[in-house]
Amino acid sequence: MTLPTDLTFLAPPGEAADWRVVVLCDAAAATGVFEKLPGTPDELADRTGLEPQALRVVLDALGALGVLESDDNGRFMLGATAPEPAALATVRHHARALRRWATALEPRLRGEPTRDPAGITDPDMFHDALAANARKVAPEVVDVCLRRFPEARRVLDLGGLHGEYSLEFTRGGLRATMQDQPAMIEVARRRGRLEAAGVELYEGSFFDTVPEGPFDLAFCSGITHTFDGERNRTLFGNLRPVIAPGGGVAVVTFLRGRNPLTPLFAVQMLVNDNGGDTHTEAEYRAWLGEAGFTVDERVLDLPGQGSRSVLFAV
Ligand SMILES: C[S@@+](CC[C@H](N)C(=O)[O-])C[C@H]1O[C@@H](n2cnc3c(N)ncnc32)[C@H](O)[C@@H]1O
Repeated sequence: MTLPTDLTFLAPPGEAADWRVVVLCDAAAATGVFEKLPGTPDELADRTGLEPQALRVVLDALGALGVLESDDNGRFMLGATAPEPAALATVRHHARALRRWATALEPRLRGEPTRDPAGITDPDMFHDALAANARKVAPEVVDVCLRRFPEARRVLDLGGLHGEYSLEFTRGGLRATMQDQPAMIEVARRRGRLEAAGVELYEGSFFDTVPEGPFDLAFCSGITHTFDGERNRTLFGNLRPVIAPGGGVAVVTFLRGRNPLTPLFAVQMLVNDNGGDTHTEAEYRAWLGEAGFTVDERVLDLPGQGSRSVLFAV
């Protein structure tokens, strides 16, 4: 057995990781099992304080799936299909999606309240999972933006989270400011990479306030589909006054009716139960237009990652 290259829940149909690998790896990572390898079940139970019988069952199952292997002395160690340490956050984020899809779809269909709270329950894991995805596409996405706004000197990265796009803009010679909610800015500060690279951090909701401009580019990746139309109108309205003459907005998102994996991503928005949805190009045109922007005629499609699109507006 081999692991698929795309370990996210957005892998193309038929190519998603085995759900048992996802769930078992998530449980083992959450309880510190991987960190305590190698060891026999008894040694690992001692080191982790976990319930021995349950641990034995999980270790054996991980062994059957090739994530772990054991030697002649019954000592478990990482096996051929163990995710790379850097991919573990992606697998855990996938497991969170699985839990959410399994428990929230039925209540959402019935119009009943969902049971668990949605939202970012583990900021560090969320940070690492989305950073891993963004690192793969940031050079291309930033390149597309800089070709559209070649004179841009200052960029505002809204809901920037891991700051991979901010970092890529600074590599391109721009001054970048990343805005996010306090809990995510706290992770970014603690990790220390962004400030060391010269990225300015700004904490607070962009529905209340945005940093003083002027900015040549307001970069909105992965945020607008987490909100409904009303909130997107507010966001775009808040951005208009801080955009420099000749500057504009880039919206990177899954467009309904355009990108092949948008319908699957829409399920994730539905079960998050936070008002988010995948929106159409026409809706973005209307909201940005109301905020005083003119959307470019041409919409660009990005390869990979469920082929999201980029809308530019000035
Ligand atoms: C799905 S992540 C996108 C991260 C990154 N931009 C990307 O494309 O990979 C959405 C981000 O928006 C942030 N966010 C959500 N609501 C926000 C608000 N009202 N103000 C600022 N940031 C917000 C979240 O904390 C999270 O970091």
